[in-house]
Amino acid sequence: MNTHTAPSHGTVHLEVTDGIAVLTIDNPPVNAGSHAIRKGLIEALRSCGEVRGAVLVGAGKSFIAGSDLREFGAPLAWPELPEVIAACEAAPFPVVAAIHGVALGGGLELALGCDYRIATPDAKLGLPEVSLGMVPGAGGTQRLPRLTGRIAALEIICGATRITGVKAEVLGLVDVVAEGDLLAAAKRFLAEDRPKRVVADLAVPEEDETALESAAAKALHKGRGRPNVAEAIRLVRASADPDVVSVLADERAAFQKLRLSEDAFALRHLFFAERKAGSVDGLDAKPRAVSAIGVIGGGTMGQGIARACLAAGLPVTLVERDAEALERSLGALREALQAKQARGRLSEAALTAQLKALSGTTRISELTSCDLVIEAVFEELSVKVPLLTELDATLPPETVIGTNTSYLDINAMVAGLPGRSRVLGLHFFSPADVMRLLEVVRAETTANDVLATGLALAKRLGKQPVVARVAEGFIGNRIYAAYRRRAELLVLDGAAPEQVDAAAEAFGFAMGPFAVSDMSGLDIAWAMRKRQAATRDPAARYVTIPDRLCEAGRLGRKTGGGWYDYPEKRPEPSAEVTALIADARREAGITPRSFDAETIQRQLLIAMVNEAALLLAEGVAQRASDIDVTLANGYGFPRWKGGPLWWAAQQPADRIEADLDALGMAICHGFARGPVSDTLEELKG
Ligand code: NAI
Repeated sequence: MNTHTAPSHGTVHLEVTDGIAVLTIDNPPVNAGSHAIRKGLIEALRSCGEVRGAVLVGAGKSFIAGSDLREFGAPLAWPELPEVIAACEAAPFPVVAAIHGVALGGGLELALGCDYRIATPDAKLGLPEVSLGMVPGAGGTQRLPRLTGRIAALEIICGATRITGVKAEVLGLVDVVAEGDLLAAAKRFLAEDRPKRVVADLAVPEEDETALESAAAKALHKGRGRPNVAEAIRLVRASADPDVVSVLADERAAFQKLRLSEDAFALRHLFFAERKAGSVDGLDAKPRAVSAIGVIGGGTMGQGIARACLAAGLPVTLVERDAEALERSLGALREALQAKQARGRLSEAALTAQLKALSGTTRISELTSCDLVIEAVFEELSVKVPLLTELDATLPPETVIGTNTSYLDINAMVAGLPGRSRVLGLHFFSPADVMRLLEVVRAETTANDVLATGLALAKRLGKQPVVARVAEGFIGNRIYAAYRRRAELLVLDGAAPEQVDAAAEAFGFAMGPFAVSDMSGLDIAWAMRKRQAATRDPAARYVTIPDRLCEAGRLGRKTGGGWYDYPEKRPEPSAEVTALIADARREAGITPRSFDAETIQRQLLIAMVNEAALLLAEGVAQRASDIDVTLANGYGFPRWKGGPLWWAAQQPADRIEADLDALGMAICHGFARGPVSDTLEELKG
C-alpha cells in the first residue's frame, strides 16, 4: 500500500562543486528521516549528473537522528528507506556519509548503504530499533556485520548501544575519523578517486564459532521473552548467507510485521511520552545557571546523588553531621569511584577529575558558592525543617534548594521559610546514579525558574524527569503503594506471595512486589503506615500481614528474611510466613480463595490504573502519559507494555470499568474510584 498518512517533514539540498555533489539533509530539529527526506534523497541522487562522488551530510546538529517514528504506525509511503539505499548503491559514483552528531536507526542504515563513512570523533552511531520493539529494517542487520563482524553487530543491535566515531573506526564501521571541518574532509576523501564499494557485496568476516554462539546466547538472555530480539539475532546470524538479497527481504518483512506489533506501539508511546514529560505546559521561565552542587546527608541517597552529579561534570560539596560521618561518607564515595574505574566504567582521567571535584564539610556556611543544594537527610520533619530554615537563612537568594524527601509534605515543610519560592522537590531513586527517573516536585510556592532549573538539572544528569505536585508519595510511590496494597489484599484473600510475584513477573515486571519489598526493606512502608494510622479510612480493608512480619523482625533480605526465607540467598516460601498469613486470614474471617495468574495481574494493574486516575484528577500528575513514564522508568514496569495507562487504554473500556466495579464492591470496601474513563480517553486521543 502506498498511501501516506503522516505529514511530510524536511528537505534535501543539492549542490555540485568541482565534480562533487553535496546532499544536505535538512529536517530540524534532529534531521529525522522522514518521507520528504527519503523522496528528496532519491531525487537529489538522480539529479547529481556526472560527478566524481557524492557526500551525504546533515544540516544542523546531526546526521540523521533516526527515522521519523510518527510514520511507523501506518503504511509507509514510497520511497521507503531500502529504495533510497538501493539508489545510493546503484549510483555510478561513490557516496560518502559524513556523520556528525548522531546517526541512529534508519540514519545509520542509510550511512551503511553508502560506499564509505567519515565521522567526527564524538559522533554517536547506533541501531536502537530493538528498544522500540522492532528490528532494523533497511539492511542494518546485514550490512553492519559485513563491516564489524557478527559478534560486534550483535552487541550493537541487540544491546541498542551507541558507539562513538572513534570506536566505530576501530570496529571498521567508519573508514575515517575526521577532526575539524567534516564536509571538507569528506570532499578531500572523494578527491582521491575512490572506487565504488557496495557494503552489501562484501563478505561477512570469519569469526570463531564458539565466540559467536556465546555472543548470541548473551544477547538472547538479555532480551529474554522479547520476540524482536530473537528475530534480530536470527537475522544477524543469517548475514553469513551469500544470498544477501533474500536475507534483506526477510529482514524487511520482519521489520514490517514488528513495527505494527503491540510492543512497538507501546514503546513508541513511551518514546514520545518521555520527551513530553520533561516539559510543563505554559512554563517559559529560564533555568538558573548551575555549576556547583551541595549535597546534604551522605547516606544511601546523598552518595548516589553526589555520584550522579560528579559523573555529569558538576563539582560536589558534601555535608554531614560531624567529622566522623563526613569522613565515612567521603571515603565510601571515593571507594565507589575507584571501584567503577577498576571495572573499566570510568577512565583514569575521569576518576582523577571526579575525585578532585568532590569535597566535604560539616558547615552549611561553606555552601555559599553552590548554585543548587540538595538535602538527603533523614526522612523526619524534625530534621528537615530546621535544616531548610538554616539553608534559607545562610545561602544567597539565587541558590536553589532541592529536597529529596520521599513522602513528606513539601508545602508544609517550606511554609515558614521567607525564601520558600526557591525550594522544590528533587526525588531521586536508588541508586541515584543508576536509576533514570527523577520526580521534579513543584510545591505550591515553587518559582517557575526554580522548576525550570530542576528540569534542566535532570537533563544534565541524563535523567528522565517527571513533574509532580505535592502528594504523599508523589506519583510513583503513591501508585506503587496502591499496587503493593492490592498484592497484599490478594494474599489475604487466598493467593500465596510467590504466586503473586510469579504472575507479576510473567506480565513482565523485573521482580514481583514481595521480592521487591524484601529487597528494599519492609520498614519504610511500615513507618508510613504508622504515620497514616490516625487518618486511615476505618471503612477500608487493612492487611495486617506486613505489620506482623515487621513485628517478627522480618524486615526483608537485610534481616535474613521478609515475605520469603533466603536459605541460599534465593527466595524460598517460608513456613513461618505461611502460618502468619493463615492467622491473619482467620482473624479477618476470610475463607481463602484461589486466583489464577490473569486475575492476579488484572487486579494489580487495575489498582495502579485507579490510583493514576485519582492522581490526575487531583492534579498531582500533569498528564496520563507522565504516569506511564514514571512507572516504566522507576518501578520496573515492562516498557513493551507502555505503562499502566497505555495498557488500560488498549483494553475494551467496559472491561476496565467491570474490573473496577468488581474490585470496588466485592473485594475492596472503601475503595476510592478514580475517573478512569476520562483518563484513558486522553491517551487514545
Ligand atoms: P540515610 O539514613 O542512608 O542517610 C541520611 C544521612 O543524612 C545520614 O548519613 C546522616 O548522617 C545524614 N544527616 C542526617 N541529618 C543531617 C544533618 N542535619 N546534616 C547533615 N547530614 C545529616 O538515608 P537515605 O536512604 O539516604 O535517605 C535520605 C532521604 O532520601 C530521605 O528523605 C529519604 O526518604 C529519601 N529517599 C530515600 C530513598 C531510598 O531508597 N533510600 C529513595 C528516595 C528518597
